[in-house]
Amino acid sequence: MKISGIGSSLPKKVVTNEMLAEILDTSDEWITTRTGIKERRVLSTEYVLDLAVDAAKKALDDAGMDPKDLDFVICANVVNEYVTPALSCIVKEKIGAKCPCVDLNGACVGFIYACDIAEAYYKIGRVKNVLVVCAEAPAHMLGWHDRTCAVLFGAGSGAAVLTPGDNILATRLTSSDGWDRLYEMHNLQWCPYDLKGPTNLPLVMHGQDVFKFATSTCVNDLKVVLQDAKITADDINTYFIHQANLRIIKYIEQMLGQPTEKFPTNIERYGNTSSASLPILLDEVKKAGGLKEGDLLAFSAFGAGLVSGAMIMKW
Ligand code: UT7
Repeated sequence: MKISGIGSSLPKKVVTNEMLAEILDTSDEWITTRTGIKERRVLSTEYVLDLAVDAAKKALDDAGMDPKDLDFVICANVVNEYVTPALSCIVKEKIGAKCPCVDLNGACVGFIYACDIAEAYYKIGRVKNVLVVCAEAPAHMLGWHDRTCAVLFGAGSGAAVLTPGDNILATRLTSSDGWDRLYEMHNLQWCPYDLKGPTNLPLVMHGQDVFKFATSTCVNDLKVVLQDAKITADDINTYFIHQANLRIIKYIEQMLGQPTEKFPTNIERYGNTSSASLPILLDEVKKAGGLKEGDLLAFSAFGAGLVSGAMIMKW
């Protein structure tokens, strides 16, 4: 397939490092030097659903596609306002599509998982046009009193319309042991109408372990997909790396021997938006005129599971 349209949507409310330092034992200096994050967006008047629908509509506009021509809607999401139905069912109805829809929880790798599933369905002749929507609000899962996680995440949504083409040159998905390095259990008192506040069973992350997993798997995944696509790291015009920590992105740059200019970032403004991170970044780079037809793009992400994925795509 190829990406024919892209869109993104972010909540209005900005929470800066300084604001967090007022309620937590942390500082702008610690957050900036350890992660690269300066601020993030959090839900206030919006819902995850609103971001998903907004990003989906923008991607459809960008592609010039009538929603009735969609054959499949896939939403990548970890948590939203509804336990059931799937977020994709609500998005499908709100945009006016008439096709099957499904959600997947691929954590931060959701965009690459969704593109790979779209590509597989396309290859067996089941679909032509697929809408992938990644919409996340990881701040719903953490405790605002927990400085180890509260400073890292932000909400956002990114969507892409995939249409027939042969632009996905290689994809790799992996899973490794270590599910208990990053998890959150259901809060059984969960009330869907009260989801805007933090749950009282917060996210648990063993940051250093996830950091080690991320750096090693990303470099390896990228080397494998480059080899599968029969190209080298130098051939890639732009690397889209999951925006979880600027130090991880810098490490990958160094290990691949590639210049910083090839690694756009927005982590400083949005923090880690889980699966939405890659399509939001792609949308921003495209809008800034940073993509030319024929450019070779590399995507790489990692997250809870522990899962990872990489993809090479011709723009
Ligand atoms: O998208 C999902 C994938 N997630 C990731 O990729 C995250 C990967 N991990 C990371 O990005 C980093 O491990 C973190 C940013 C989470 C943490 O950075 P770190 O350099 O690994 O710090 P650390 O966990 O080793 O903690 C160093 C110190 C500790 O204090 P002591 O034990 O040295 O006294 C922490 O308690 O920093 C302390 N600390 C903080 N201090 C100020 C932890 N969080 C904070 C904070 N503000 N927010």
